[in-house]
Amino acid sequence: MADNSDYKSQLDLSRLPRHIAIIMDGNGRWAKQRGKPRVFGHHHGVTSVREVTEAAAEIGVKYLTLYAFSTENWNRPSTEVTALMTLLVQTIYSEVETLNKNDIRLQAIGDLDRLPKKTRQALEDGIEKTRNNGRMTLVLALNYSSKWEILHAVGKIAGKIRDGKLKPEQIDEKVFEKELCTNDIPDPELMIRTSGERRLSNFLLWQLAYAEFYFTETFWPDFRKNDFYKAVCDFQHRERRFGKTSEQIQ
Ligand code: IPE
Ligand code: IPE
Ligand code: MG
Repeated sequence: MADNSDYKSQLDLSRLPRHIAIIMDGNGRWAKQRGKPRVFGHHHGVTSVREVTEAAAEIGVKYLTLYAFSTENWNRPSTEVTALMTLLVQTIYSEVETLNKNDIRLQAIGDLDRLPKKTRQALEDGIEKTRNNGRMTLVLALNYSSKWEILHAVGKIAGKIRDGKLKPEQIDEKVFEKELCTNDIPDPELMIRTSGERRLSNFLLWQLAYAEFYFTETFWPDFRKNDFYKAVCDFQHRERRFGKTSEQIQ
């Protein structure tokens, strides 16, 4: 049944998550339902990216992270991987103007050095051209995996200890977080995954330690502004206790 509620009007704008992370999933199944190749779904997913980015900026969310390509996604058929990389390049170049118009800064997390040169170039170009925008930061997780990120951080910390710049007893959450790709980004309070899958797929394991999870059956290419606002409304009806009792936080 269609959900005709206007979720935007139900939001409490004074209690918004500062950072929302999304696992955009279901492009392939969306295309398959229509008898089309998987890539058709990826192309339509770009419209959802545009909509959700705008939706988040409109209400005043400060950071939006989108999982666009995982390190595990290299295992897909090479034609799909190539199509995804090409789509990324096209999308970044075509959206930069809109990002600037909407005062949105582009950032990326992941093992970016191992991306194809053209993808890396487009990304660097987009990041450079939007670097002074301040309304919202759009973070693309590209060639990202949380286990890679954590191991990379551990390696950097080990190097600092070897060089005498850090003592093992100085390692705390702050020291560790400084070495993650997200070092200057607050942890997401809300994680949304589309397409009915209920797993993290190696996404922001450390950063999502206390996040609220929202799952929807909707495939990513069908996900629109109202679906996004519905997720934020759901988030606002939850009680975040952080280990305390309900009475303590009333
Ligand atoms: C998400 O959709 C896009 C990427 C992972 C790049 P999928 O391509 O995973 O779609 P399904 O899950 O196969 O339907
Ligand atoms: C996770 O989606 C990665 C992205 C959305 C980019 P997948 O569709 O690749 O995840 P799994 O493999 O089904 O867990
Ligand atoms: Mg998937």
